[in-house]
Amino acid sequence: MAESISATPVGLSRPQKSPEEIFEAVRAREASLSRLLMAYISSGLVFMLFPGTFLGVWNLIQISGRESLASISAAWIQAHGHAQVFGWVGSFIFGIGYYSIPKLRGGEKGTFAAAWLCWVMWTLGVALRWFANVYSWEWRVLLPISSVLELAAFGIFFHAVSQHRPAEGGKRKLEPWIWVVVGASLGLFLVLLANGALSVYVAVFGRSPEIPHGVDQRYLALMGWGFLAPFVWGFSAKWASVFLGLKPARPGLLLLAVGVSFLGILLVFAGSVKVATVFFAVAAGMAIRALRMWEPAERKPKTRGVHPTFPFFVRMAYGWMLAAALLGVSAAQWDSSGGIWGASRHALTVGFVALMVLSVGQRILPAFAGMRLLWSTNLMFAALALLSLGCALRVSCEILAYQNYATWAWRILPASAVLELGGITAFAINILGTFVFEPSHAAKQPIVAGIQQGLA
Ligand code: HEM
Repeated sequence: MAESISATPVGLSRPQKSPEEIFEAVRAREASLSRLLMAYISSGLVFMLFPGTFLGVWNLIQISGRESLASISAAWIQAHGHAQVFGWVGSFIFGIGYYSIPKLRGGEKGTFAAAWLCWVMWTLGVALRWFANVYSWEWRVLLPISSVLELAAFGIFFHAVSQHRPAEGGKRKLEPWIWVVVGASLGLFLVLLANGALSVYVAVFGRSPEIPHGVDQRYLALMGWGFLAPFVWGFSAKWASVFLGLKPARPGLLLLAVGVSFLGILLVFAGSVKVATVFFAVAAGMAIRALRMWEPAERKPKTRGVHPTFPFFVRMAYGWMLAAALLGVSAAQWDSSGGIWGASRHALTVGFVALMVLSVGQRILPAFAGMRLLWSTNLMFAALALLSLGCALRVSCEILAYQNYATWAWRILPASAVLELGGITAFAINILGTFVFEPSHAAKQPIVAGIQQGLA
């Protein structure tokens, strides 16, 4: 954010305007920016709750009732995954990405219009995919349309973000964490390209709107270790050391971790899955070391306005990431049911990605959405605790039940899903409560100071 702040023109280049007019212009621009951010975050929350988590819980209840993963529709499982990864996480990334672009802070009308067009195309694209998968209605047409809309939205977003330049007069080099996010954006682009190609393939040759199992597993590896994990690493490099008071990250090592992860993906596509999982585990360990996530903090964490357990949950999320990688290594050796693979994926998507979004999201989104305070810090704790408990039960019992190690574990799985649903719902209520009930302080103080304070 420091760059966007220092690059903010704040109207100072127009001395003919009175200070009141300048202040009003800045206030109006900031209000438009917050509206845009809230649109992305709200649609992300809707995808997370209904098409994502509710469908996930329903799927798990069905699987547990029939004691078999194979008994339910793969199209429904994929609809759930698509809504969570693109509808929720993708919308959040776009919203926060747009919020941080200096060009939008400069108030350029064209860029604003493009950002709204991007939102419409992305939201429609993800919604169509979910609808086609769940209802099997006109899916041969809707699948390709949805993927084209998503790719086009990404193109608009990427065009805006690629205009991002270092601050005038500052060092001409981009900060290292931005390169990690660039790597993750390349991963997102590749996932969307793969999704487009698979959608066309399924539309032409498929008998139902589902991606065939073998290729879906490869696609999921790309999604997890080429897009989701590197994105969280990049944002952690930017924010975690500030919020948790950690020693400065080791950027070279983090970039190397991204490289090792991408090599792992190449190995997956070359058919060497066992070796690839070792690469992912090494990349995960390198990322933890690079971010100094588990080293003692050198400053007090910044927990004003959030629950004091916030740093604990961020560190725990990185524990889930390592568990996901190690479970991947075990799955490549011993999985016979999809249970260890599922546990590994769940540790990554819920334990790592969702726990990070719930932790850091409640830290930064209130400030971004017009300098608000988080609605309830207790609700934040409830969200993080429920999600963590649900995830621990799910990951352990998924292995025990699916692999046939213990039949009692089937009875725990629905409860784990309900706990996770509780955590996700508490998060959504807290963010929407913040948007609706907490007053915006943006009008009362100069916005640049406001944003700095929000991050302080
Ligand atoms: C919070 C509660 C959640 C529940 C109850 C849930 C449930 C499920 C279930 C039952 C499956 C089927 C495979 C298996 O049994 O392991 C699945 C797959 C999947 N889930 Fe979730 N999930 C949840 C959250 C999430 C989140 C937060 C994400 C992503 C950010 C996610 C992404 C995925 C993906 C990508 C798949 C694989 C889809 C495919 O096979 O193509 N899930 N989930």
